[in-house]
Amino acid sequence: MAYKTFTRAALVAGLAVGAAFSATAAEEKPKMMMGADAAMLANSCTGCHGTDGNSLGPAAPSIAGLSPTYFEETMVGFASGEIPSTIMNRIAKGYTEDEIKAMAKHYAGKPFVKATQSFDADLAAKGAKLHDKYCEKCHAEGGQSPEDDAGVLAGQWTPYVNWTLADYKAGDREATKKMKKKLSEMLEREGSDGVMALLNYYASQQK
Ligand code: HEC
Ligand code: HEC
Repeated sequence: MAYKTFTRAALVAGLAVGAAFSATAAEEKPKMMMGADAAMLANSCTGCHGTDGNSLGPAAPSIAGLSPTYFEETMVGFASGEIPSTIMNRIAKGYTEDEIKAMAKHYAGKPFVKATQSFDADLAAKGAKLHDKYCEKCHAEGGQSPEDDAGVLAGQWTPYVNWTLADYKAGDREATKKMKKKLSEMLEREGSDGVMALLNYYASQQK
């Protein structure tokens, strides 16, 4: 079955309740003392991002195995509002730079587990070609490699990738100049069918 869009707010609202997250969670975080444990800080993330950073549902992205640079920049971007978010803006603001660094290192050491989700095989095949042409240069190994500090696309939850691409497309999230160029080229030639094909390709990578 091909991925179908549904609203971001609805999905995330369900998640916030399901995860028993309270707005004060960030304030209640354990204080970073000398040699404090990053794993303790990460405890307040597990409700949405799963134990060890592999989220169990489509509403929150997996954060295991991200490069520390990408992780830190993203948290800082959420906190400042530069990167659009539904929930992370509030959460990211609750942590100091050192705490974010500690969590970035903690999660970078955990293996990213690809999500099991539905996809359309024909669209995935088309998406693989588009990825090679427009994205592979920076999102290496079919979008699996975190090495270029560019996040992880292969096996990431589809709704998250979809929303993030929509944010880049709308200019709400600023991409690097080169990515902007490639994404615009892809959109000009392939339109939203191209996005759908890419999403199915990333979803198809499950091992
Ligand atoms: C209530 C659920 C929830 C909690 C708790 C939560 N997150 Fe998130 N996280 C999300 C959602 C949803 C997104 C997608 C952005 C958004 O809409 O806020 C996200 C996105 C992220 C991303 C970006 C991933 C990427 O690929 O770019 C990082 C990094 C992250 N969260 C780290 C954390 C850390 C660290 C904690 C704990 C201190 C945490 N999150 C707690 C729901 C949550
Ligand atoms: C020139 C390098 C480059 C190219 C080409 C590129 N990207 Fe990126 N991409 C990045 C970098 C760097 C980031 C990390 C942060 C940022 O700049 O927003 C990123 C981030 C992303 C994210 C967010 C990841 C996350 O976890 O939130 C998505 C989605 C994405 N790229 C999709 C694509 C797609 C699809 C293509 C091809 C059409 C593409 N990118 C082409 C460099 C690139």
